[in-house]
Amino acid sequence: MKEQNGKNKTSQANHNGALEVRGLTKKFGPKLVLDNISLSIEKGKTTVVIGPSGCGKTVFIKHLIALLRPTFGEVYYDNKRIDNLEENDLNKIRTHYGFLFQGGALFDSLSVSENIIFPIRQHFKITDWRQVEELVKSKLAMVGLDGFQNYYPADLSGGQRKRVALARAIALNPEIILYDEPTTGLDPIRSDIINELILKLQRELSVTSVVVTHNMASAYKVGDRIIMLHNGKVIADGNAEHIRNHPHPVVQQFINGQVSEDDLAVLRMSGSMAQAQFLPRDFE
Ligand SMILES: Nc1ncnc2c1ncn2[C@@H]1O[C@H](COP(=O)(O)OP(=O)(O)OP(=O)(O)O)[C@@H](O)[C@H]1O
Ligand SMILES: [Mg+2]
Repeated sequence: MKEQNGKNKTSQANHNGALEVRGLTKKFGPKLVLDNISLSIEKGKTTVVIGPSGCGKTVFIKHLIALLRPTFGEVYYDNKRIDNLEENDLNKIRTHYGFLFQGGALFDSLSVSENIIFPIRQHFKITDWRQVEELVKSKLAMVGLDGFQNYYPADLSGGQRKRVALARAIALNPEIILYDEPTTGLDPIRSDIINELILKLQRELSVTSVVVTHNMASAYKVGDRIIMLHNGKVIADGNAEHIRNHPHPVVQQFINGQVSEDDLAVLRMSGSMAQAQFLPRDFE
């Protein structure tokens, strides 16, 4: 197995944006989810993507690793266009990424150790198993779970499962880690452990991180930069201070967890529909 250390160091030195999207537009049928988004994501920094449920956060980060292809626009990794690559070439590019999926799904039938080895086996023929065992040990140590190699996902708490998923995401020493809702479903303490891990990985591995989250405490803690998506556009983009003081009412409603007028209108409508379903005459 070839280690991924030191890859593309020269090409990275010449630029600032490890990831870039230009005019990124995504439609599913007639539904416009991402509307002409252009931005670059700086190497070695943590960029957080926030926004209400269904606004396109997952769709956005899936484009960054070309798990989804744009309807219009382009995606670049290390100044190299990736959205138009064949799957074979993409698979090589993807070895530079770690991706923590929403829900952090581990394979239930595989042990912790086997789960972490999985992405290595996908990309490399393993000849030296002792080296792989060492690698698993060091990745688990990074997330504070060395010793759990032979456990199965069912034996772990939700927070531990997320940490194993994170160990798996860093198995190939990625330059970029994409996190989709890494703290969802965890209590505040366990969420904060994940936040600390995101910070630690950025510090120790100098990775470029993109974190999708609903959790503002997490966004403020880990984000060098926070981007808010709304109606397919970026409506806010800046550091925690910038977002906290942002004048856009939709940003304020979101970060303060307030229900918007639009949401209220939907609730009111569904309320009246519920009433309409149970008019007294229905029981006559
Ligand atoms: N493969 C798909 N086919 C059709 N529509 C899709 C597909 N994937 C996502 N969508 C739609 O795109 C929109 C954005 O979805 P996305 O999963 O990115 O939302 P999100 O911001 O991640 O929401 P959440 O916070 O709930 O995870 C939704 O309306 C969703 O139904
Ligand atoms: Mg999502």
